[in-house]
Amino acid sequence: MRTPDPFTLIIFGGTGDLSHRKLFPALYKLFLQQRLPQRFKVLGLGRNEISDKVFREQLTHSLSDDTSGSSEREQIQFFLQHVHFQQLDMSHADDFQHLKQRVHSFDKEVRDNLLFYVATAPSFFSSVARELTALGLHKEDVGNQWRRIIFEKPFGNDLESARQLNNELLACFKENQIYRIDHYLGKESVQNMLAFRLANGLFKPLWNRQFIHHIELTAAESLGVEDRGAYYDPSGAMRDMVQNHLLQLLAIIAMEPPSHFDSTSIRDEKVKVLKSLRPITETEIPTHTVRGQYIASTIRGERVPGYRTEPDVPESSSTETYIALKAYIDNERWQDVPFYIRTGKRLPTRVTEVVIHFNGPGHQIFNDIDTQSMGGNQLVLRIQPDEGVLLKFGLKVPGAGYQIAPVGMDFHYSDLSESELPEAYERLILDALIGDSTLFSRADAVEASWAFVDPIIHYWNTHSESKLYGYPAGTWGPPESLDLFEETEEDWRYPCKNLSSDDSYCEL
Ligand SMILES: NC(=O)c1ccc[n+]([C@@H]2O[C@H](COP(=O)([O-])OP(=O)(O)OC[C@H]3O[C@@H](n4cnc5c(N)ncnc54)[C@H](OP(=O)(O)O)[C@@H]3O)[C@@H](O)[C@H]2O)c1
Repeated sequence: MRTPDPFTLIIFGGTGDLSHRKLFPALYKLFLQQRLPQRFKVLGLGRNEISDKVFREQLTHSLSDDTSGSSEREQIQFFLQHVHFQQLDMSHADDFQHLKQRVHSFDKEVRDNLLFYVATAPSFFSSVARELTALGLHKEDVGNQWRRIIFEKPFGNDLESARQLNNELLACFKENQIYRIDHYLGKESVQNMLAFRLANGLFKPLWNRQFIHHIELTAAESLGVEDRGAYYDPSGAMRDMVQNHLLQLLAIIAMEPPSHFDSTSIRDEKVKVLKSLRPITETEIPTHTVRGQYIASTIRGERVPGYRTEPDVPESSSTETYIALKAYIDNERWQDVPFYIRTGKRLPTRVTEVVIHFNGPGHQIFNDIDTQSMGGNQLVLRIQPDEGVLLKFGLKVPGAGYQIAPVGMDFHYSDLSESELPEAYERLILDALIGDSTLFSRADAVEASWAFVDPIIHYWNTHSESKLYGYPAGTWGPPESLDLFEETEEDWRYPCKNLSSDDSYCEL
């Protein structure tokens, strides 16, 4: 991967949680790996007037811990010499003028290439783009100079607001300057799904309705809403997880192989999938979707609250903390293959995976009971934790007769590389710095995924009779989700069945 040109990265929300927990640690790792150029600057922004020195001290705490040795502390200080702070209130136009002056005080080499990172509440996205444009900071008018801007999630609250936001941003920056982040796409294991699908002649011919029976996508969280009730309650699982992360995963799984491995070709194919999602009609919503909300329960001896008694959540909230749905893609490759998607909070463990269920062997020559207990062949693509791939198939049990038993061939992604897997933000920031937008969402993809989920959310909001099932915290959600399956013997995969111990780590 090439090293970025010298640059200045300007972070709106430089003092926030995301910056301290993810962005600066990712930049520091890139610095350690010598992925950054010799000359660069990072300018954190926030409303309070603080000096570079104080800001660097604050960041030292975020980048180090009690185990950091003296050489690591020294490296952190080297890195922080590149970091500065500028006071800016996003609602004060004058402050943007001061920002421009500050940037202009930097050496030409680093101020030519500007990456803005808008890591603040989405209500500021448009106004930040407008102010930067008014000052000409978006213009790429000299030689190879570049100007790019990253926006955090959530991107819109529904189709209309996403469209409006896209229009407002595109009135300021060009699409190829805009990087809409979906941090799931920065995960190694998600990128690996592309490689797995497109680099292996073994699986390529099987990747269609002829050989695949159905596909499952699960993103389970064991935590509840914690202290994010004020953010989460107006949103819910459909907006928070399905519209962005899970539909992006589905697009990667289901897209046609692009003719070239470049940003435009890949994103073109992904958007075709999203646009081919069969709309779930009003009459289908009760049978194609199941939503739930966690209720108080005891998990491994500990009493945990129900969603409605969490901080900043209204007592009468009808926000879904769980959603399962059945989707179809209307194209030649996937016609009538069900994609079962589920996500929820306070499920038994934290796990994200895609399970490809292959068709059975057709004519059975072995004892039916044995092959049935084995289940169909499955390919599990695990995204987190214990990233890897598991292929399940049947083999003969040694000894008399022909009893077939399930076995698994597994690959753990950690075996491939001795170093730990890079954090999603490392990859995404580096990509934005070198101008590769493959792993970022394009305007049309964002709108296509909102177009799919919007009518469902609208139906829930306007049909008070639509069901919201309570599920005890620590369970796999409402059992009614089983009704989504087309055949009675089908079920979700339940990774990590043995969850009674304190450690809910989920092995592949
Ligand atoms: N935190 C996460 O793990 C996470 C994960 C995914 C996405 N995100 C997204 O990232 C964004 C930021 O989240 P966060 O958790 O970092 O929020 P946060 O901790 O509340 O930080 C908000 C940041 O915005 C700044 N800010 C607020 N009002 C401002 C104003 N008028 N002018 C200038 N700066 C202002 C704050 O700076 P001062 O208070 O210093 O002025 C602070 O740096 C949100 O869009 C969120 O959805 C966050």
